[in-house]
Amino acid sequence: MRRSGSGPGRGNRSRRSPVAHRCRASVSATGSEVVIEALAHGGEGVARLDGRVLFVPGGVPGDRIVAHRIRWLGGGSFGRVLQHERRVASPLRREARCPHRPRCGGCPWHEIEPEARALAKVDDAVAQLKRMASIDAAAVPRILDPQLAPRYGRGGRSIVRVDPEWGYRLRARLRVVHDGVRVRAGFSGQRSTEVIEIDRCGLLLPALGEATVRALELARSRGWPPGKLHVAAGLNPPATGAVFVASQGAALGPASGDLRAAGFDLVEACAAGSIADPAAPSGAARGLSGVVAPLGADGPFHHDALTFVQAHAMGNRHLCEAVVRCAAECAPRRILELHAGAGNLTLALAQADAHVRAVEMEPRAVRYLRSNLAQARLADRIEVMEADASEVEQLLHDRPRRFDLLLLDPPRTGYRELEILSSNMLPDRIIYCSCDAVTLARDCRPLSRLGYRLSRFELIDMMPNTWHAEMVAVFDRSIAV
Ligand SMILES: C[S@@+](CC[C@H](N)C(=O)[O-])C[C@H]1O[C@@H](n2cnc3c(N)ncnc32)[C@H](O)[C@@H]1O
Repeated sequence: MRRSGSGPGRGNRSRRSPVAHRCRASVSATGSEVVIEALAHGGEGVARLDGRVLFVPGGVPGDRIVAHRIRWLGGGSFGRVLQHERRVASPLRREARCPHRPRCGGCPWHEIEPEARALAKVDDAVAQLKRMASIDAAAVPRILDPQLAPRYGRGGRSIVRVDPEWGYRLRARLRVVHDGVRVRAGFSGQRSTEVIEIDRCGLLLPALGEATVRALELARSRGWPPGKLHVAAGLNPPATGAVFVASQGAALGPASGDLRAAGFDLVEACAAGSIADPAAPSGAARGLSGVVAPLGADGPFHHDALTFVQAHAMGNRHLCEAVVRCAAECAPRRILELHAGAGNLTLALAQADAHVRAVEMEPRAVRYLRSNLAQARLADRIEVMEADASEVEQLLHDRPRRFDLLLLDPPRTGYRELEILSSNMLPDRIIYCSCDAVTLARDCRPLSRLGYRLSRFELIDMMPNTWHAEMVAVFDRSIAV
């Protein structure tokens, strides 16, 4: 490794190295050779140059690279490599199987061996909990039985392995842009605003992949309005049910007919806000609702492309199983569930024979939630609240302290109100499902002060080929308050 002298902001001005001078301008040209040591939260490789962390997009542990340009950030305390050349490839690399890599941002860990990248997710989660919340997640027992759930594991680290790693994704968000000359439609680029036009996507469930490519062709040829394009398929494999396409642009008008004319079975294209009432029986017939929910439901599970659905059907089964098992352990009578979505975990929880108050903010999801519960004949035991989960007073005004289980499954941004909520009601158990280790760790920081300890922790490799994992963290109140 070529070593440069003191870094920006660290050395005496007169003794500063040429590299340090260039660092002051924030972007520096170097020729430094570094080795990628680890994978960071966010997916980049991590290397070190003169003791400072360098983030290397696309870097895999074991790669030896020459950094040609570095943007220095944080006053020069760390940097991001803007341009590099790989000298030696890591043994953890595998051949890219998608022709759109590395430009497409859809599966950033595509070229990393599955076990290595899965264990990197464990390391990330454990490190974030330790660093931000002083929680030793590595010492905590797991939830799922290894006999039931296959695992990647080594040296005390483990994560539930979820198959298949290709052809699984049940939803995606694409973009349509007009560049002045023509309409471009595709996925967002890796760390760029570029739109990557694809002719196939191996990550999507095959039926959804086909529908997506055809929808993109139509978007280009018919000049669909700019905006986001959401695609989704039904929740359970094999997804024989609906594929949904929804454009965020202006009304599509005849495009919906285009899609049908293009031969999609059970496909609907529609403008945001103009989807037919999902509770109406004709909704299902027109392909607006999904197939079968994994646990707890005995009929179709309704959702659409604009309503959240877990990305991997098999991973979702593991998630539901973990939640059901952890809920059953405390035999709850009253459960408060936040971020209920269309009722995926609500239906699973209903097995616990408890009264559930399910809170969801999105009106579309609430409509699906209600219809999914009605169909499963659970509407009497489950009270649906269309509310913002951050308005804790509203959620608890009538029965403070009466819930004995809190289940939360917030979006990636997390749930900052845990401190207020838990101090108000202090349920015996909190189950926090999360797809982001940083926000999970941030939100759980106050829990030990409030008398909780992490008693179960599970990672599920729900989104193979990406740096994301699903986590289930269970906190129990360990002291009487
Ligand atoms: C990660 S999804 C989980 C949905 C559901 N638990 C599932 O497994 O499909 C998060 C859900 O939280 C909802 N949400 C986001 N912010 C919210 C808020 N402030 N209050 C209530 N719900 C919210 C979203 O609409 C979405 O349905």
